[in-house]
Amino acid sequence: MSTMPKEAIAGIDVEALREDFPVLKQTVHGQPLVYLDSAATAQKPTAVVDAIRRFHEVDCANIHRGVHELSQRSTAAYEETRAKARQFLHAKSNEELIFVRGTTEGINLVSSSWGRKNVKAGDEIVISAMEHHSNIVPWQMLCEEKEAKLRVIPMNERGELILEEYEKLLNARTRMVAFAHVSNALGTINPVKQMIAMAHQAGALALIDGAQSTPHIQVDVQALDADFYTMSGHKVFGPTGIGVLYGKKALLEAMPPYQGGGDMIQTVTFAKTTYNDLPYKFEAGTPNIAGGIGMGAALDYVNRLGIEQIAAYEHQLLEYGTEKLSAVGGLRIIGTAKEKASVLSFVMEGIHPHDIGTVLDQQGIAVRTGHHCAQPVMDFFHVPATTRASLAFYNTFGEIDKLVAGLEKVKEIFA
Ligand SMILES: Cc1ncc(COP(=O)(O)O)c(C=O)c1O
Repeated sequence: MSTMPKEAIAGIDVEALREDFPVLKQTVHGQPLVYLDSAATAQKPTAVVDAIRRFHEVDCANIHRGVHELSQRSTAAYEETRAKARQFLHAKSNEELIFVRGTTEGINLVSSSWGRKNVKAGDEIVISAMEHHSNIVPWQMLCEEKEAKLRVIPMNERGELILEEYEKLLNARTRMVAFAHVSNALGTINPVKQMIAMAHQAGALALIDGAQSTPHIQVDVQALDADFYTMSGHKVFGPTGIGVLYGKKALLEAMPPYQGGGDMIQTVTFAKTTYNDLPYKFEAGTPNIAGGIGMGAALDYVNRLGIEQIAAYEHQLLEYGTEKLSAVGGLRIIGTAKEKASVLSFVMEGIHPHDIGTVLDQQGIAVRTGHHCAQPVMDFFHVPATTRASLAFYNTFGEIDKLVAGLEKVKEIFA
């Protein structure tokens, strides 16, 4: 029997809100588009496109430097996004929000700036077995440079981190623990608050990769006591090339600049340069102004729907999808953690994920196939790749039915 819910979630009228996403109205290969790749990048509502367009048509000027009207308007709009990001992440002050290109740059900023200053030979950095490459490679590079050791929290067959093993990894040499709030390859929601408390107990800092949590669940960096937290604008229905790094003020103040250039300085002479205050110390050069303004519109959109409502609706979608996919013969879901968000990763017996993705595409269904920038996760599950359907609030129960019908067709073709 289907568990398709009868009751609506307050604030989520999917058919109405799909009107805000013109991209979803198209046909692909003659079929209505079913977009199930939001974990890679989410679609953008008209409000975001309009904000970017308005910036270019009406307010376009460089920020922070001009006394003229357009520059003041641009600066105000850009800085307003910083305040929106503070509210969205529940940070204490605007100075704690650094604009970056996205999660990848946020992590690189911390590993370069904080890492170079604070990590020495023999120190240890802890990451987890389910990290995206962007939360592995920067730490590997740091460890190589500093002769520090990278240690990895293992996971179980459901794709849950093993906390007893994590506990054993922590010691007086641990400087940083870095892990995802939500795994992009498995959908696992990690027990972040507890894991941060454990890191702190050992005297280490904690950086949380929020690329996949911020579009789906509420984040409160103060309640979590996160030292650093990163997010990408394009995953939260905003444009690409913009994101946010949150850092506790005292930590950011003690860190050296990441890049040198305009805006990050107070005074420059050939003898010596003094650096700007937070957050500008970490924002060298002309930033992605249009992207920042677009991300502000995206956060407004998410706030209007309500992140709690989004989470509740997506949870129903995920449960429905899990039940339907589990009933497809020969299909195995990869990532069956008790706490999950919005990701259905799976393999099918005897059929390569790229073939699955190609046949689904012919039916207008967009899924991602591959290693999802998490090759160690694939190695752990002994699969070369998975097919991943990832959900957002604009997806419908009917679209999941289409995915299942599409997979039956895949089976017919490759039988
Ligand atoms: C869990 C996770 N971390 C980090 C990233 C990297 O984000 P970006 O490419 O926006 O920097 C992604 C992107 O897919 C992700 O899913």
